[in-house]
Amino acid sequence: MTLLSQRSRNASAEFALVEDFFLRSSSGEARNAEEACDFSFGNPHEMPLAGLVEALARNLQPQNPQWFAYKISEPEPRAFIAKALSSELGLDFEPEDIALTHGAFAAIALAFCLVLDAGDEVIIPVPGWFCYASMLRAADLVPVKVGLSEPDFDLDLEAIDAAITPRTRMVVVNSPHNPTGRVYSQEQLQALADLLDSASNRIGARIWLLSDEPYRRIRFNHTPFVSPAALYPWTLIDYSYGKVLLAPGQRLGYLAISPRLPAEQRAELQGATFSVQMSMGWTFPSALMQYSVASLENVSIDLDALATKRDLMLHSLEQWGYQMVHPEGTFYLWGEAPGGDALRFIETLAARSVFVLPGTLFERRRHFRISLTANIEMIERALPIFRDAIG
Ligand SMILES: Cc1ncc(COP(=O)(O)O)c(C=O)c1O
Repeated sequence: MTLLSQRSRNASAEFALVEDFFLRSSSGEARNAEEACDFSFGNPHEMPLAGLVEALARNLQPQNPQWFAYKISEPEPRAFIAKALSSELGLDFEPEDIALTHGAFAAIALAFCLVLDAGDEVIIPVPGWFCYASMLRAADLVPVKVGLSEPDFDLDLEAIDAAITPRTRMVVVNSPHNPTGRVYSQEQLQALADLLDSASNRIGARIWLLSDEPYRRIRFNHTPFVSPAALYPWTLIDYSYGKVLLAPGQRLGYLAISPRLPAEQRAELQGATFSVQMSMGWTFPSALMQYSVASLENVSIDLDALATKRDLMLHSLEQWGYQMVHPEGTFYLWGEAPGGDALRFIETLAARSVFVLPGTLFERRRHFRISLTANIEMIERALPIFRDAIG
């Protein structure tokens, strides 16, 4: 008989494929070998950004006895982010709209805790980030997986509408999208906002939109970005600095309440974030990261170098016959495995020390994902192996 709770068993079941790949498969270990070309997860393969290191080093020096005291959502970084986000998104955020968190993970969990109850249904995209379902299960919530339209991986509004039931309370939108790199247009998001408004009226309960935006600043060719928070008042934004800094182990992010939310509801949420963050455990970022917020505002991975890697890989792979999606953002490439069998394809590559993620981790067995956080030497070593694999 198991001692584990039902919800932890449900969460583990949702996470089983990723856990196997990450911890137990032969790929798991071999990815760390010196000769490995690691395109699997969005982890750094180059030295950390100087701007990040400088900010951390500077703020490591205590300026008063309280320097490393408990931190909540501190007023200074909160006000800074409210101002920066207002100008980035063209919305009027107040400091109280911003809850500083331990990365996007904690912001997402905070959003679930703030507005959802056990048993509520949450629509998540498929393919999509592999942690939504397990996070929902761990919180006793019910993931409802809705496919994106193929082959373009746009939002499938009809499928979303059809998946809404009287228990639906949230729809997660992730743009720029992991794993496809799609950035949704204003028209699509407006149509989704209209749909959610009428569906909320139909079921007699408000459906929230969680806009998962950790890749918001990683876009190519000036692709415009519109946050759903500008179009649908019942939107919560989660953000992480882990992507743009390519330092996901230094946890910093936030949850932001849409300023378009009706005033009374906005005030209710603003008033609740502190106690909910406390109740969930210590979801606040560390002191060091909070002090660094202002210095990190303009620190970023080199987007031109990323675009060069994207173009080199896309051009080569397509020339050899791979069917790839052209990402408008993120640091991923998503394409069809030759022969349509992702597991066989990743084994072929892994045998020659090239590691990519199988689409099965995103519930798509024909596809694979490449993380462009691999360094240029890895890309150059791997390209002939990709060419042979389609041979
Ligand atoms: C779509 C998406 N959302 C949220 C996260 C979580 O970000 P963080 O680990 O920086 O909290 C990730 C990380 O991979 C992601 O890809």
